[in-house]
Amino acid sequence: MPLKSLEDLASFCKRRGFAFQGSEIYGGLKGFWDLGPLGVELMKNIRETWWRSMVYERDDIDGMEAALISNRKAWQYSGHEGGFSDPLVECKKCHIRMRQDNMKDQTKCDACNSTDLTAPRDFKLMMGLAVGAVTDGEINAYLRPETATTTFINFKNVLDSASRKIPFGLVQIGKAFRNEITPRNFVFRMREFEQAELQYFVHPSEGMKWYEYWKAERRKWWVSLGIPAEKLREQEHEQLSHYAKAAFDLQYEFAGLGFEEVEGLHHRQDYDLGSHTKNQKDFNIQAKVMENKDSTAKLSYSDPQTGETYIPFVIEMAMGTHRCMAAVLDNAYTEEDLGEGNSRVVLKLKPTLSPIKAAVIPLARNVPELLTLAEKIHGELKALGLGRTVIENSGNIGKNYRRHDEIGTPVCVTVDHQSLEDGTVTIRHRDTMKQERVKADDIPDIVRKLIK
Ligand code: GAP
Repeated sequence: MPLKSLEDLASFCKRRGFAFQGSEIYGGLKGFWDLGPLGVELMKNIRETWWRSMVYERDDIDGMEAALISNRKAWQYSGHEGGFSDPLVECKKCHIRMRQDNMKDQTKCDACNSTDLTAPRDFKLMMGLAVGAVTDGEINAYLRPETATTTFINFKNVLDSASRKIPFGLVQIGKAFRNEITPRNFVFRMREFEQAELQYFVHPSEGMKWYEYWKAERRKWWVSLGIPAEKLREQEHEQLSHYAKAAFDLQYEFAGLGFEEVEGLHHRQDYDLGSHTKNQKDFNIQAKVMENKDSTAKLSYSDPQTGETYIPFVIEMAMGTHRCMAAVLDNAYTEEDLGEGNSRVVLKLKPTLSPIKAAVIPLARNVPELLTLAEKIHGELKALGLGRTVIENSGNIGKNYRRHDEIGTPVCVTVDHQSLEDGTVTIRHRDTMKQERVKADDIPDIVRKLIK
């Protein structure tokens, strides 16, 4: 049986130490979630998988990491300060505030059904800051609401320092902040979340070619996480943002929620590099951009072969890593009936994503020789550098197996009295519950092959 809702997933995550409501002991703060010991490992594995596929397995993409806070001007010229808002409606009776486009019925309050509502007004989503001692509280910077803009404004720095040729890409993984009107659905809509975004710079004549290319690549990546193709859906945007030539959402079918966006792919033309460029009139910018009086750089590219100078088009892949984590957990969570009144919860994560790669369990707690052998095996597993492995010395083998099934540990290695006599141990596989007797010396190799 799968999960029924994202609320169920949130309870599971709290119980097992994946994620906790932010500021919980002070009553919480809506839209903020903290990752626990298992969540932080799972998230690290998701980031690594994404980074590897984007940077290490390719030759045309570099990574970077920008500051979370940037100059107000960056967000003025990106169009966010003027236009990044959601329609806010307030109920005059119970005073709750709602995002109009998310209301169940646009004429009635979601909480009390009153029809006495304010007219919608634009609610700005960016979190402004007064940085330094000079401003007397006036906003002069913003916490970034996406990584993308902080990549665009570094385009020239990377081009000059890394000698890249078009087409090439730049990726960032990092925090983004949005003052969402109605944060909800566990980590699905948060006010502080993380994005993994690729900006791929191409010649204007090749925009649609690369858009189609990346569409296929991203779907493959999601499937490589163990998500079945039928739980993924592509939703082309019918109404495009003013800067976009084409866009689609990659959606995952969440328990109780249905298909919802986990990643956006946008053909952004020359809007971004054009917006942040000085002397815009020197270029034939195709997107509608605000006149820029403040930039000190031309974010253009000169082709060394043809001599052509132009503002590259951008194809963007924008994924939320928290939504990815929720999708991966939602997909992996399984309740299994084992017959005779027994059941188990098993998290069928791909071993590369599992927070704990292996657990070593001495069968009896009070036998020092068993613990010594278990520690030796654990030491060898740690030395492989595959990620976290643990030793469980509570002595209750059944409980340990169930606990590790539930948190997705691919294998448990049990050391018993026979191990002391013949140097063999039992390896138990999470998904099949199959147990095999193998040589203790072979364990590092077996685990390495499984995780890799
Ligand atoms: N640079 C483009 C951009 O930021 P977006 O569609 O607004 O595009 C990209 O965001 C991804 O970031 C989304 O597909 C989603 O996975 C994630 N995301 C956006 N807002 C979020 C929020 N409030 N909470 C959690 N994830 C969010």
